[in-house]
Amino acid sequence: MTYETITVETRGAVTLVTLNRPKALNALNSQVLADLTDAFAAYEADGDQRCLVLTGSGDKAFAAGADIKEMLDKQAADFFLEDFFVGWTADLVKKTRKPWIAAVNGFALGGGCELAMMADFILASDNAKFGQPEIKLGVAPGMGGSQRLTRAVGKSKAMEMCLTGRMMDAEEAERAGLIARIVPAANLLDDAMKTAAAIAAMPPMAAMMNKEMVHMAFETTLDQGLIAERRMFQILVATEDKAEGMAAFVEKREGQWKGR
Ligand code: HXC
Repeated sequence: MTYETITVETRGAVTLVTLNRPKALNALNSQVLADLTDAFAAYEADGDQRCLVLTGSGDKAFAAGADIKEMLDKQAADFFLEDFFVGWTADLVKKTRKPWIAAVNGFALGGGCELAMMADFILASDNAKFGQPEIKLGVAPGMGGSQRLTRAVGKSKAMEMCLTGRMMDAEEAERAGLIARIVPAANLLDDAMKTAAAIAAMPPMAAMMNKEMVHMAFETTLDQGLIAERRMFQILVATEDKAEGMAAFVEKREGQWKGR
């Protein structure tokens, strides 16, 4: 499948999706939304694909935000009636049950930072820069920035970022817990693909349920989350892959997963 604003390729069980508007620093317009939604749905539906990496083309940006030129002439009623960009959270987050990683190379600003934060985790190049500069445009984050950044780095830092629009470098982002790891820029894609391949080699139901459980921590009380976690565990122990995984450990060999 070819797309207008992204490229998609599969390497073994890993899907690599690249935002491909380098001249606009991979700014996110409606077409990117449509293309990404489609590519993620295809990934979700493909039983052979087990992990996905999302990155930006070029060496400067993951994505420098929602496309300001597209938003310039839109009126409030247009944003409301179109429910502008609602599909991101609904489709990329809620409908993607399989794991995916954001490999942030360079700027991840505004909607770009918000898109990265929708991933299960972020790997960032040492020259990555994160920010929610919407306030400088007279607006505010509209795709989860105020909510996900606050949950990721806490109120004080999120508030400072949103109110000043300043950027956070990779070191600060790692210290603050926004990203999982910093990787030298030249190795980012390679590292992200290897990390994704390692996840893709795990028992798939266990990967999906681990993902679901961690996400649940943001949505529930501790008590409810702990109950849900125990139930998921109790489901996983009924899978064939649990029997295989534990037998493989005892027999000192690699597990052969059935995915059920
Ligand atoms: C459209 C963008 C863009 C964007 C960059 N470009 N960001 N186009 N939307 N968000 C374009 C520029 O217009 C320019 O095209 C080209 O990319 C290169 O950008 P430069 O500014 O020349 O590069 P540089 O001087 O290196 O500065 C890089 C930058 C800066 C610091 C990242 O581009 C920047 O501040 N961009 C905007 C960041 C931002 O405000 N993001 C939040 C958007 S609002 P031309 O054709 O002129 O050469 C948002 C809201 C989400 O995301 C909520 C929606 C519901």
